[in-house]
This record gives sequence, C-alpha cells and structure tokens, in this order.
Amino acid sequence: MTAVGIDAIEIWSGKLKLDLPNTFAPVKGDDPEKYTKGLGLEDSSFPDTYEDIVTMGANAAKQLMDRKGLKPSDIGRIDVATESAFDHSKPVSTYIAGCLEQVYDGDFRHANKGERKFACVAGTQSIDDAYNWIKAGRNRGRAALVVATDTALYARGDPGEATQGAGAVAMLITEEPSIVELSTEQGYGSMDETDFLKPNQQFPSVDGKRSMQVYLARMREALEDFESVAWDTHPEDFEYIPFHTPFPGMVRKAGLLGFRHMIRDTEIEDELEPEIGRQPRETDFESREAFEEAIRAHMDELKRTDRYQSWYADTIAPTLELSRRVGNWYTGSVHIARASALRHAAANGTDLVGQKLLVGSYGSGAQAEIHAETVRDGWKEEIEGLNIDDQLESRYDLTWSEYELVHDVHEYDKETDIDVEEFTQPSGEFVFTGWGRMNERRYDYVE
Ligand code: CAA
Repeated sequence: MTAVGIDAIEIWSGKLKLDLPNTFAPVKGDDPEKYTKGLGLEDSSFPDTYEDIVTMGANAAKQLMDRKGLKPSDIGRIDVATESAFDHSKPVSTYIAGCLEQVYDGDFRHANKGERKFACVAGTQSIDDAYNWIKAGRNRGRAALVVATDTALYARGDPGEATQGAGAVAMLITEEPSIVELSTEQGYGSMDETDFLKPNQQFPSVDGKRSMQVYLARMREALEDFESVAWDTHPEDFEYIPFHTPFPGMVRKAGLLGFRHMIRDTEIEDELEPEIGRQPRETDFESREAFEEAIRAHMDELKRTDRYQSWYADTIAPTLELSRRVGNWYTGSVHIARASALRHAAANGTDLVGQKLLVGSYGSGAQAEIHAETVRDGWKEEIEGLNIDDQLESRYDLTWSEYELVHDVHEYDKETDIDVEEFTQPSGEFVFTGWGRMNERRYDYVE
C-alpha cells in the first residue's frame, strides 16, 4: 500500500514576543514561576501590526513551496485550519492562494480549497482530508497543502491571556512522504461540550478548569478507541508523543494519564509495585468518588518515580521545546509539538527512521484524535531546513504598554485612534495592507 503522510513542514511565528516571567507576571502581581514552572511557558508570539492569519499562513506556505521547488500546479488542494477566521463565507485558503499567486507563475484555479473548523483539532482534520483524498486516488499525482494558522488571543484579563500565541504551520501531504507516514488506524473521543467557544465573537468564552478536564477525558477515550483498532499501546512503543499543547503544563497532565493507561497490566506496573503498589481498579471500590480519590493519590506517587520521570524526559519533554517559547497556536499547536520533537532528535543525532510517534490532537467543543506515525528516511533533512530558531531569536520584545497597543490593534471591535507603527520591518513576505471596497482584507508581497 502506498504510504501517505507529511512530506514537508514550515513554521512561521508572529514577529513579536511577550516575555511572561519578566513582563507579564510583574504587571499581574504573580510569581514568575507560575508561568515558567506552572504553565511551562517563557514567551508568547504575537503578530505585528501588518500580520494576521493570512500573512502568517501564506508566508509559511511560501517558505515551503520555495524550499521544495513547487509551482502552483503541483498542488491540488489547499485546506486551511483556523479558529481565528474573519469571514463566515469566504475561506482563508482563497486569501492565501491569492497571496501566493502574486509571486508564482501560474495559479491554483484547479485546486480544491476549503476551511476546516473544529477548534484546535481542525489542523489534524485537514491532514485527514488530504490523506483520504490521496488514498481515494483523486489527487492526480498532486500534493495537498495544509495550513494551520491562528492568532490565539484572549480578552484582556481572561485567565487564558497568559497562554496566547500567534503563528502558522504549513504542511505538504503527499504519497511516499519524506517526514512521517500516517497510520490508517485512528481513535476518537468526541462529545458535545461547552468548555471553550466563540459564538460570533472574536475572543473565546472559556471555562478554563473545565476545559482541562474535558481535554483529558476526550484524550483518554481517543486512546482507548485507537487501541481498539490498532494495538494495546506500551510506553516504549513510541519515540515521542506530541500532544496538542495549549500550554506545556496541560501536556504534563496528559503525559501522566497516558503513561498510567499504557503500563496497566504490563511488566512496568509489576516493576513499580514494590514502590507504589498496583493501580487502583474501579471494581475494588464502592463508589466512583472513592476510586477517583485513590487514582489521584496513585498518580501523585507515579509521577515521582524515576521510571516515569525518565520516560517523560525522553518522550514528552522534547515535544514542548518550541511551545514554551511561542504559546498556544491553536490549530498549529500539535504540529509544533511534532516539529519540536523531530528538531530535538536532529540536534541530538538520534536516528529516527522507522521509529513511531503517537500523536494526540484536541479541539475544544470537544474532540480528541489519536493516530500513530512512522518516521521516514527524509525526516532529518526536512527538519534541518527549518529556520524557526532564527525567527524566534529575532522577535521584537514588547514592553507592557506596547503589548496593550498590539492587543488593541488586533481586536476587531476596537478603534485604535493613533496610527500605530509596526515594530519590525517586513522583508520578503506578505503583509496586510488594509480593506477593499467589500470590506475584504488586502495583502501585498514586500520584497
Ligand atoms: N510556582 C509553580 N507553579 C505554580 C505557581 C508558582 N508560583 N503558581 C501557580 N502554579 C501552578 C498551579 O499549581 C497550576 O498547576 P497545576 O494545574 O499543575 O496545579 C498552574 O501553575 C496554573 O496555575 P492556575 O491554575 O492558578 O492558573 P490560572 O487559574 O490562572 O489559569 C488556565 C490556568 C485555566 C489553564 C488558564 O490559563 C486558561 O483558562 N487557559 C485557557 C484555556 C486552556 O488553555 N485550556 C486547556 C485545555 S482546552 C484546549 O486545549 C484547547 C485550547 O487550545 C484552548
């Protein structure tokens, strides 16, 4: 069977950054460690005044097309995943295609374009759509371009304000891909939930603590569903487990839950028994509450064991290195986690060919999806092509009052009375230039 998966990845970060321990925490009157240790974040990326979901997505896509030497006719599908769209009808993919057509010969006239919405899981769903389109033989030898792009902004003062971020991930989905092949098997955990939503509003209504519970519950269901069609997973099966990362602290909880699930009835549970006992089984308890209390106590002990900590350091921590520095990119977040792990492996000389990843995506509202990926021969060369480190180093470091201004500029309903200057100088990229006669957003390429 033909392998289908991710052939190339490019990342575009917003050009500004907000330093959480040094700029955000003092204004909020918080201990900086709430951010660095609790949430696990150093900085958030922000869009400059001339950036938005279209410019970031188009810039990531252009980097990808240039590096792979692609022309528009090589691409048969452009799917954009976002939860920051500004139009209920015209998809962001048409804007991104319009940008790219400014700089390439030819056009995307015969490419199928769309926009996927299911909170943060939509990026993975767009990859699914591309996978299915290729597997169905409808691609005529062409590749699919998937762009996950978001400005993850919260209302000022919302507890989510600390987890903001902005950036785009462009991915090329092809037959015989260079980076990873996707498994046919998938698991879902999906329920109608009211944890995080944007009913005709720019910034989300969030029940933060509940959203974390829902994330974990749906992720567990997705893993069980995956196992029902794949195999009983074991912690040593996977080199890395990239999860959707709204902030690294969330993944700390997901990693522990996953480990507990995977070691049940294995030699690892036997090995840990003298130290922390066996995992509580629900059938041994009279009430659900008593069982849950016992599980919480057991997990507290499990997370302190050397066995768990070394697994976490090897399998989960490398997926969080980029996220710590950029915040939540919503639809792009799990794809940043995968890239982060691969980048870590490349920097450490780890041979990954043939190794497996387990990828856990999540979208509020709510749905988790889990599938496996097998690393392919060309992964290292592709990942070494990323310039994300340079991008992160060159971000403009916002003061608090500049941050307030940038947040206002990007708030649709707010009139910013002064003509705000950009903080960075665009060069070789697409920029937002203003609105047209039908209130459409307009873009130019700046040499
Ligand atoms: N030193 C070390 N750790 C500290 C600390 C200190 N001085 N102060 C606090 N902490 C720890 C806390 O103990 C806590 O960790 P645990 O959960 O492990 O106990 C962590 O830092 C955060 O502290 P709080 O819970 O007090 O933080 P908060 O109440 O201000 O907000 C939040 C946390 C609810 C996640 C908030 O940021 C939020 O609403 N975020 C948006 C929603 C979100 O991201 N939800 C995630 C699941 S939904 C999803 O994944 C979809 C999506 O992308 C949005």
